[in-house]
Amino acid sequence: MDFEKIKELEKEQYMKLFKRQNICFERGEGCTLYDINGHKYTDFFGGIAVNCLGYNNPDLVEAIAKQASKLIHISNLYYNVPQVELTDKLVKNTIFERAFFCNSGAEANECAIKIVRKLAAEKKNGKTTIITARESFHGRTLATVTATGQEKYSAPFAPLPAGFKYIPFNDLEALKAALTPDVGAIMLECIQGESGIMPATYDYLVGAYAFARQKGVLLILDEVQTGTGRTGKFFCFEHYGIQPDIVTLAKGLGGGVPIGCCLARGEAADAFRPGDHGTTFGGNPLACAAANVVVGKLFDTDLLDKVAEKGDYLSDALSSAVARHKFVLDIRGKGLLKGIQLDERIPVSTVVGKMLSLGVVIGTCGHNTLRIAPPYIVSHDEIDDMAEKLETIFSNTNI
Ligand SMILES: Cc1ncc(COP(=O)(O)O)c(C=O)c1O
Repeated sequence: MDFEKIKELEKEQYMKLFKRQNICFERGEGCTLYDINGHKYTDFFGGIAVNCLGYNNPDLVEAIAKQASKLIHISNLYYNVPQVELTDKLVKNTIFERAFFCNSGAEANECAIKIVRKLAAEKKNGKTTIITARESFHGRTLATVTATGQEKYSAPFAPLPAGFKYIPFNDLEALKAALTPDVGAIMLECIQGESGIMPATYDYLVGAYAFARQKGVLLILDEVQTGTGRTGKFFCFEHYGIQPDIVTLAKGLGGGVPIGCCLARGEAADAFRPGDHGTTFGGNPLACAAANVVVGKLFDTDLLDKVAEKGDYLSDALSSAVARHKFVLDIRGKGLLKGIQLDERIPVSTVVGKMLSLGVVIGTCGHNTLRIAPPYIVSHDEIDDMAEKLETIFSNTNI
């Protein structure tokens, strides 16, 4: 099918949801993507911070192919080996005691929300309210879009589920003031991803953790975007030395195969009884076989150190290449998740288009910010090349 036909069919038949770039990707190798017309691109976006091992990773491909030839799906009515192996890896290598697997970040957060509600119901203590931050992003299901502290995502879908309360991010006093007796949990991102790669300050997250402990409410960290090694540690919260009760993962966990995960400890880990929650596909052998490869590499090789090192290299490359331009307002983030905020007069979508024409894929997020989230295997040369191309574009940009 040629590209014109593809675009025509998509326009007629797909729900009117996505503003797509004028590209149809066909295959990838390492950090390189090829479109259906044979054009080559270096990927600094990873399918929105997902493709952490890059494209056509031999171990990942082999594990998926092997598992597909044995058993793709079986349901949670039976045991399956890859699921048990994945759970064991996550439980033995982290502070968490139990896992639940689903298919997306939103579903992982739904699970976390249901744990809070279930504990409140069991204890009959009315602690059903969840505090979330303004500008947060937690997903697109009705509950998670309500948890998301951005009305633009939730308002068109009213009536919304009750029991969420919003506070400004990085404001510890506001959080303390919001902690009324009906609050059962605080749910935060360590770095607000969709709203512009906004890191929680050290004092804020550590303070929120201490305050949650003191008041006996759960701390849920949504690490859908920042988890699975993206910031140079398995969980971003490790940079802050805190221990949340629940963490949610998705994006990178399956290296591109859809899988979400809710990890919990303490009473949160034991909240559910059989029948309280479930999923048909979640934790199926295929997705877990893929995640076992990703998680295995993160726990058993020096991949996390490499992410940290390349993250520093990326920071330096961006600072020396583009920070001098006065329309670059900020460069922030951790590890291989970076945001470059530009003056509103330079729309980031224009920069993304120009980078594509130079053969580099980058993304955007809130507050007119470029989002850079390459596969963990990105090389120094690829980083230098990307920074140089960004600099070429910025040097030819005037405001
Ligand atoms: C922090 C965070 N939570 C949740 C989600 C939702 O994940 P999914 O799109 O897999 O449902 C996202 C997606 O961007 C995210 O960044």
